[in-house]
Amino acid sequence: MKKELEKIRQEAIKALKNAKDSDTLEKLENEFLGRKAELAKIAKDIKNIAKEQRPVVGKLINDVKRDISEIIQEKKSGIKPTKQAIGFDQTLPGINPNIGHLHPITQFLEKIEDIFIKMGYEVVEGPEIESQKYNFDLLNFPKDHPSRDIQDTFYVDKDDAQNRPYLLRTHTSNVQIHAMKTRKPPVRVLAPGRVFRNERTDAGHESTFYQCEGFVIDKNIHITDLIGTLELFIKRLYGDNANIRVRPHFFPFTEPSIEVDMSCLLCEGKGCSFCKKSGWVEALGSGMIHPNVLKNMKINPKEYSGFAFGLGIDRLMMLYYMVNDIRLSYSGDLRFIEQF
Ligand code: FA5
Repeated sequence: MKKELEKIRQEAIKALKNAKDSDTLEKLENEFLGRKAELAKIAKDIKNIAKEQRPVVGKLINDVKRDISEIIQEKKSGIKPTKQAIGFDQTLPGINPNIGHLHPITQFLEKIEDIFIKMGYEVVEGPEIESQKYNFDLLNFPKDHPSRDIQDTFYVDKDDAQNRPYLLRTHTSNVQIHAMKTRKPPVRVLAPGRVFRNERTDAGHESTFYQCEGFVIDKNIHITDLIGTLELFIKRLYGDNANIRVRPHFFPFTEPSIEVDMSCLLCEGKGCSFCKKSGWVEALGSGMIHPNVLKNMKINPKEYSGFAFGLGIDRLMMLYYMVNDIRLSYSGDLRFIEQF
């Protein structure tokens, strides 16, 4: 065996010495070190020799392999280029690689995070696949609330500890409960993320879209703090000319609840398909955190109060970049993505 290996080594050294171009070198590398090389066959047959000899032979095989590959590497650095490569003009400019960039939604989310971080918020994340407990129960949704219906919510083919199917979260409000498991007031939290609803799509509606939850819990938090925060946020994002209007609304997890609309910047309030000819776009839902929700967070509602809001990121992004159809965002069409 030793003789055989030595013979391979000598043959390789001789052949490699005469190799004059990269093609020949590549051929020899394959011949001596490739999968079908004599060396590879010997290594494969090692299991057939006596057990006590295997380590010795194994070492010999590795030594020969190492020597051959060292010569090949040495040769490679000083070898003449092959015929095809001779015509290659190294002074020609290269082809610029196509460098991508962040998706407009991600770019926009980063702007929003910046604004709230400057107001003292911390950014946290929550799960997209969620139990009914966190998406609905602990947020004070009654058992028969319509949004639990299969026509509004995507359920997953896997049951939770209470034998109820998991779901794709329908809003980012689930993060309120998760975040407060490990925090105590005072808190200022921002939780951006993807949400899912079983809905028919149009220029302003998608079945997968982004929301950004925000909430503050402290002593003496009032609804005026909420409206002031949202107004400041909108003005910082769109400039002082952006208008908002506040409407009373209902959410099971806030009391009182309000919805905030923004003046439609696409049609400057004249009415278009995006704002459904109203001149206003529903931008976010918000309100004062319901005492039952505070109790579910193990917070005493007599001592603390809080506000929460859920921004509709896609719609705010569309107003920011003047995009008139939400479906473009997720179409994967590079003609759209490359504009940002
Ligand atoms: C909620 O989802 C509440 N969780 C928001 C909230 C948080 C209220 C905290 C109170 C306190 P709503 O279903 O209205 O609320 O959705 C919030 C925003 O998401 C809407 O204002 C809208 O801008 C956006 N949105 C809702 N449905 C869609 C959709 N199908 N496509 C795109 N954006 C949507």
